[in-house]
Amino acid sequence: MTSSEINAYDGSLGDLVHRLTQSFIAEHGEPPTWIVAAPGRVNLIGEHVDYNDGFVMPMAIERYVAMAASERKRDDRGIASVRSVNLDVFAEIDLTKIPTPPETPSWMSYVEGVFAGFMQKLGPESTQKIPPLNILLESNVPVGGGLSSSAALEVATATLLEAVTGVELGKAEKALICQKAEHDFAKMPCGIMDQFSSVFGQANAFMLLDCRSQEIRQLPFSSDGISVLITNSNVKHELVGGEYAQRRKGCDSALTKIGASSWRDVTMGQVDAAEATLTATERQLARHVVSEIERTERAAEAIEANRWEALGDLMYQGHASLRDDFKVSCKELDLLVDIAKAIGREGGVYGSRMTGGGFGGCTVTLVDSDKVVEVSQQILKAYKEQSGVEAQLFASRPAIGAHVISRSPS
Ligand code: GLA
Repeated sequence: MTSSEINAYDGSLGDLVHRLTQSFIAEHGEPPTWIVAAPGRVNLIGEHVDYNDGFVMPMAIERYVAMAASERKRDDRGIASVRSVNLDVFAEIDLTKIPTPPETPSWMSYVEGVFAGFMQKLGPESTQKIPPLNILLESNVPVGGGLSSSAALEVATATLLEAVTGVELGKAEKALICQKAEHDFAKMPCGIMDQFSSVFGQANAFMLLDCRSQEIRQLPFSSDGISVLITNSNVKHELVGGEYAQRRKGCDSALTKIGASSWRDVTMGQVDAAEATLTATERQLARHVVSEIERTERAAEAIEANRWEALGDLMYQGHASLRDDFKVSCKELDLLVDIAKAIGREGGVYGSRMTGGGFGGCTVTLVDSDKVVEVSQQILKAYKEQSGVEAQLFASRPAIGAHVISRSPS
């Protein structure tokens, strides 16, 4: 299946880059000197455990933020002008000083936060090392879909700054600068999964990321017989920031009460033993974290043994835990998972679950490749009938992480 066979977002990176180049020429009268791209991600399993020292298993998706830039010729103000084609908005960054966090975050906060981190890394000469720039960006990562459009924007910005200055960051260092931008400038206390996925993504592999050691084991996934289908519920309940921070706090206080220093060392027996000291909510959070870390380890074993049905079962279990214990699902995501489950193995589905932070956004579903079109049509129809909302669907192979697409000789 190509995405356009169903109903979804216009897919190819080549098309995105071509469009962006044309827009850049139209705006600035010349082709860009640098073009970079960074992907969004989908998480197969391991949800809300990246900030709890757990394992996660994301893959970068074939949807990118692309950024084109060149030096501003007649600039006497030392600025980087940044325009987003999607949002049709424009902003400027003053390069003569390190940006400081905004009162109220906006789309530019992600970009500014990365400039700040990169400038700090460059040290006192940073203001000379980053020339005045015209930057144009376009994204085909669905925004607000739980597919890390913001991490893609951050990582694209860092990749552009590497290309422009010739200063290459370590890969993990780059992801961590981007995570810090999200914490400080976008005020979202995220874990490391999204930025690591966008930086370290590899074609034909799921990524088993150990969020305690930050080590990555790539799990080869080249089977053409199985497809990863991403379904956007097209609902977004505006709870995300606050609810997310609350879950984090709840996990931290539960861990303290259990008397452990890392969730990785906690067993279900310890959770049960601490029952009397935990609030009902903390008990549920703890149950999810401990069981989800274990499920993710088992999922890695299942993939290595090509046991797709076992992986599918773990996905359904993970969804139930996010819905009932961690309480980050919503009725539309539950509906999408129920529809996939009802189609079942005979219909071509192995498993399905919500993906990302929750409260709307997308589900991820494993499907027999030769049934993808049929399954997609069934999901779209049933979801529309039962929720009144039109979903969007696309399949993606694991994609390569952030990279420079072109750099014209100067
Ligand atoms: C958001 C965060 C990630 C992760 C997921 C939930 O995407 O940015 O760090 O915590 O939610 O797994």
